[in-house]
Amino acid sequence: MGTTVAIRKPEDLRSHRWFGGDELRSFSHRARARQLGYLPEEHLGKPVIAILNTWSDINPCHMHLRERAEQVKRGVWQAGGFPLEFPVATLSETYQKPTPMLYRNLLAMETEEILRSYPVDGAVLMGGCDKTTPALLMGAASAGLPAIFVPAGPMLRGHWRDQTLGSGTDMWKYWDERRAGLIGDAELAELERGLARSPGHCMTMGTASTMTSAAEVLGLTLPGAASIPAVDSAHHRMAAASGARIVGQVWEDLTITKILDRSAYSDAITTVLALGGSTNALIHLIAMAGRSGIGLTPADFDALARRVPVLANIRPGGAWLMEDFYYAGGLPGLLSRLTDLLHVDRVTVSGQTLGETLAEARVHNDDVIRPRDNPLAAEGGIAVLRGNLAPSGAVIKHIAAAPELLAHTGPAVVFDDYRDLKKRINDPSLGITADSVLVLRGSGPLGGPGMPEYGMLPIPDHLLAQGVRDMVRISDARMSGTSYGACVLHVAPESHVGGPLALVRDGDLITLDVPGRVLRLEVGDAELDRRRAQWTAPPPRYERGYGALYSDHITQADEGCDFDFLARSGATPEPDPR
Ligand code: FES
Ligand code: MG
Repeated sequence: MGTTVAIRKPEDLRSHRWFGGDELRSFSHRARARQLGYLPEEHLGKPVIAILNTWSDINPCHMHLRERAEQVKRGVWQAGGFPLEFPVATLSETYQKPTPMLYRNLLAMETEEILRSYPVDGAVLMGGCDKTTPALLMGAASAGLPAIFVPAGPMLRGHWRDQTLGSGTDMWKYWDERRAGLIGDAELAELERGLARSPGHCMTMGTASTMTSAAEVLGLTLPGAASIPAVDSAHHRMAAASGARIVGQVWEDLTITKILDRSAYSDAITTVLALGGSTNALIHLIAMAGRSGIGLTPADFDALARRVPVLANIRPGGAWLMEDFYYAGGLPGLLSRLTDLLHVDRVTVSGQTLGETLAEARVHNDDVIRPRDNPLAAEGGIAVLRGNLAPSGAVIKHIAAAPELLAHTGPAVVFDDYRDLKKRINDPSLGITADSVLVLRGSGPLGGPGMPEYGMLPIPDHLLAQGVRDMVRISDARMSGTSYGACVLHVAPESHVGGPLALVRDGDLITLDVPGRVLRLEVGDAELDRRRAQWTAPPPRYERGYGALYSDHITQADEGCDFDFLARSGATPEPDPR
C-alpha cells in the first residue's frame, strides 16, 4: 500500500459539515451520535466511512458479507476512521425475478443517493454477485467520493463424486443430461448438494468473476482482491486492509473520479477479453463508463478483441475454476502477462500505479494462466456483429461455441417470447434440425423486461437425444456468463421497439459469419419494409411503479441499459446539512 499523503484536514471533511461547528444542526447530529453510543473522541474529526453491504438472507453469494463487514470495520477503526454500515439492495442472481438486471439501476441510484445524502467521506462497496458490482460502481462513480470495492470472492470448487463442478455451467450441462435420461433422482439430489458448496459468487468465469476482475483492473480494489476465494482467510485480511486503505484515500482526496478515466476502461475491456469473460461485461462497462462521462461503444470491444489473446483457462470457455486461478497467481498473475497492452502508469486505490502493484505478481501454473505464446485463443473470446438483423450490434462469445457453427446459414424457427419458446420448443411439427437457427424475441431491455438471461435457448429434446449439443441461437436477451453455445445475444435495437428481429419469419434464412462479424437476414429490403409497415408495437409492460420508471428511461444494450437521466451529465446539488 502507498504511503498516505495527507492533503486534507479534519475541517475539510464532508462529514464536518454535519458534525463540526457551534450550530443547532451540528449539536443535534452530535447528540444523535451519542445516542448511537459513540464517544466524541471516537468519531469527531475522523473520516466517516460508509460500508455499503449487499448482504441478505436470500443471497447465497453474499452470505459471508454480514460477518466480513466486521473485518472492514476493524481496518477502518485501526486507520483512524469511523465506520458505519449501510444495508443496500441485494440483487441475487438466482432468486430475483424476472431478472436482477431490472434492478441494477435501482441499486446504482440507492448507492449514489446514500453517499450523497448522509455524512459520508468515503465508501467501502461490498458486492460480487453479477449485477451488484456494476450497480455499486455506477452509483459510486456518480457520487464521486473516495471509494474502494471489496469483492465478495468466488465460492470454492464444486464437487460431484470424482468430478469437479462449475456453478452455473455444470448446472446447464447436467440438466441436459437429465433431459436426455442419463441422470436419475438420486444423482440429481447429489448434484444439488455439490454444485455450490460454500459462500461466494459463481466460481466460473461468469459475470461475477468477470466484473469483480474488471473492478480490480480499473484500480478500485486492493491488488489481487478479486481472485481470493470468499472463505479463504486471505479474504478476511483483504477486507480489513481495504477498510484501512479507504481512510488513507479520504485524507489523500483520492476520489473514484481521479481513478476512472478512458484508459482505465480500455484496460478493463482488455482484461475481460483475456479472461474469456462474460458478454454481460459489454453492457455493464458501457454503463459504468457512461457515469464517468466516457462514451464506450461495442466497437471498442471488438477492436480490442482482435488484439487481445485469451489467457485464462477457466470454464465455461476453458477447463479450470476460480479457485485454481487464485492458486495460479490470480488476476495479478494474468495482468503481469499483459503489461504491454495495459496502461500501467494509472493510479489505483492502493496509491500505487497499476504497474507497481504488479511488480511481485507471478504465475504458478502455465495451464491455468497461459503464456502469451500458448493462449487458449489468439483472439479475445467476444465478437461484435452487425448487419441488417442487428443495425446497432449484437454479441457472441465465440470462444464458448462449437467452431463449425461460427460460419453458418440456416432457416429460422421463431419464438415470440420466452413463454412461447417453452411451450413449443419440443413441438415436432416445427421440423427443427441441427441446421435450424433458433430465434427468440421479446426478451430485450423493454421486452423481457430487464433483458433476462434467456439467450442460451434450449436444444430440442429430439436433437439432444441424437447427441446435438450446440446450435445457432439468436435473441435480444442476455446470456449468463456461465452459459455457452453459438448464441448471438444483445441484438439491438430489440424487437419490442421494432428492431428487425421483430420482422423475422419462420423459414427465413439467416447468416452468421463470426470471422466477417456479420449477422444477416437473407430477406430483401422491400420485403422487410412491407413487414415493418404491418408491425404494431406491443402495449407497455407496466402502467405504474418502478417498472414504469424503468420502461420510460431504459436505454438499449449498445448504450449500456442505464437510465437516460442517470447517464447524462449535469449538476446535482450537495445537500446542506445545516
Ligand atoms: Fe451470484 Fe452466480 S448466482 S454470482
Ligand atoms: Mg450469472
